[in-house]
Amino acid sequence: MIDHPRPRPDADALRALAPCGSPEELLLRRLDLDRLPRHLAVIMDGNGRWAKQRQQGRTQGHRAGVVAVRETIESCARLGIEVLTLYAFSVENWKRPKHEVWTLMNLLREYVRKEVQTLQKHGIRLHIIGRRDRLDPSLLKELDRAMAETAHGDRMVLNVALNYSGRSEIVDACKRIVQDWASGEPVDIDEDTLGRYLYTANQPDPDLLIRTSGEMRISNFLLWQLAYTEILVTPTLWPDFRKAHLLQAILEYQQRGRRFGGLDQAPVPQSNQIG
Ligand code: FPP
Repeated sequence: MIDHPRPRPDADALRALAPCGSPEELLLRRLDLDRLPRHLAVIMDGNGRWAKQRQQGRTQGHRAGVVAVRETIESCARLGIEVLTLYAFSVENWKRPKHEVWTLMNLLREYVRKEVQTLQKHGIRLHIIGRRDRLDPSLLKELDRAMAETAHGDRMVLNVALNYSGRSEIVDACKRIVQDWASGEPVDIDEDTLGRYLYTANQPDPDLLIRTSGEMRISNFLLWQLAYTEILVTPTLWPDFRKAHLLQAILEYQQRGRRFGGLDQAPVPQSNQIG
């Protein structure tokens, strides 16, 4: 986890995010910058439908999805969000045609190759979450290198869920607890302990989950961590998702009362002065 108090986003970063007079600026002014989600999780869905609407192949939809990935990462970093988790490839996605799987893996490889310096420059730490088995060793090597090269990033953690399954994550955590216990390490099993054995150890649970393309499912994503997360489903297909959609989603999140099983606590946000 980023262990210093979160700084308020600086005025330059906000102006770059939402230039004067832009529709984004109007949205940004309505946000309460002191109540941004600490952790935002995203199920990026609808690439295939986006491509179909344009009589293109599914892989073109995924390629267009990378543009939205880039914009979302950049916008979250500028806003000062601590953790962004993107669902890039699930364990179940291996059932897709070989060529589509190959394309998705390669888009990630290309993204990491091209963007590692930008991630470093903006203090973004890349963290790949999921099982390592079945992944191509050369891809793993590149991802490991990118994680090492961005390890000092202290502004935002970017979790990319790859070969990920929420159920497998919990099973793996249980196995490791049992191993530690068997090797003599005292392990007191409670919720905090289990949380520390998950891929997201030391990170806050997501405050907001955005799923694009209108599907109302969790799809085996962050099953443990989403216990009290606000869920927002937008009809926008992932390749069309832009910073205005992100700001709109955060605005809606801020208008909800989060009760965590208790009673209302969140006030309705006030209008916000930028720079
Ligand atoms: C879902 O759309 C999307 C995915 C399974 C993959 C998302 C991956 C990317 C956007 C590219 C690579 C990622 C990074 C982090 C660089 P779908 O194919 O299920 O769409 P459909 O439901 O319309 O068929």
